[in-house]
Amino acid sequence: MAYIELKNVNKYFDNNGEEFQVLKNIDFDINKGEFICFVGASGCGKSTLLRSIAGLEVKYEGTITVDGKEIKKPEKQRGMVFQEPRLFPWMNVSQNIGYVLDTKDKEEKKRKVSEFINMVGLRGFETALPKELSGGMAQRAGIARALANEPEVLLMDEPFGALDALTKIQLQQTVRRIHNESHQTTIMVTHDIEEAVYLADKIVIFTNRPGSIRKIINVNLPEDRDRNSLEFVNVRKKVFDAITISA
Ligand SMILES: Nc1ncnc2c1ncn2[C@@H]1O[C@H](COP(=O)(O)OP(=O)(O)O)[C@@H](O)[C@H]1O
Ligand SMILES: [Mg+2]
Repeated sequence: MAYIELKNVNKYFDNNGEEFQVLKNIDFDINKGEFICFVGASGCGKSTLLRSIAGLEVKYEGTITVDGKEIKKPEKQRGMVFQEPRLFPWMNVSQNIGYVLDTKDKEEKKRKVSEFINMVGLRGFETALPKELSGGMAQRAGIARALANEPEVLLMDEPFGALDALTKIQLQQTVRRIHNESHQTTIMVTHDIEEAVYLADKIVIFTNRPGSIRKIINVNLPEDRDRNSLEFVNVRKKVFDAITISA
């Protein structure tokens, strides 16, 4: 049994009384510790599938299981990061991260908050309010908050989609480093091919709506990735071709 199993998932939405299919015959496995990227045209159902894995969507045909258990609702073991960090504006960085922690032990909480602040590179910004942070820093806080729950699966929906190119590269490096250390099972939606090749072990490429799996590409690059290496460029081309060559 694989860690996450998606078995023949079909999903329909209703548009003014008319039903349309969003996801079609989605069937694949994810192993523990893998970094998966979903890539595909806008509207093909990537977010819907991610939300289904999160437990935010439960009406679909087929099954999605994590560790053999069917997903029924959102749970702490599946942490979600969105394009906007969704921080509480009245809480500072430490409070935003500490808010999600269950522990009653104050010292333990402090230690944990500080650990995750360091992990995402926000040391020195503990008492800053979200409005005082740049977009990249706010997203770092959002990631720290998701990680602080120590989820078994980290789900990210275009987390760097709203950031400028340079900030995005810095956040990709941070996420890469954290993944190299934790090997946490991660599923990320992105429309950035280079980002997918930089981060993923496997890239799942979707067809246009209704989204079905066009191809799954194994990246097979070292954890420490060089975007300008020949191997990297070759994988990028493979992904690019799979996306642009019509099925
Ligand atoms: N709650 C909903 N009700 C009806 N249609 C929806 C809903 N959520 C998404 N859709 C539609 O389903 C399709 C897939 O959406 P989405 O999963 O967000 O695509 P993607 O993330 O790949 O861009 C789109 O056509 C979108 O408009
Ligand atoms: Mg989306």
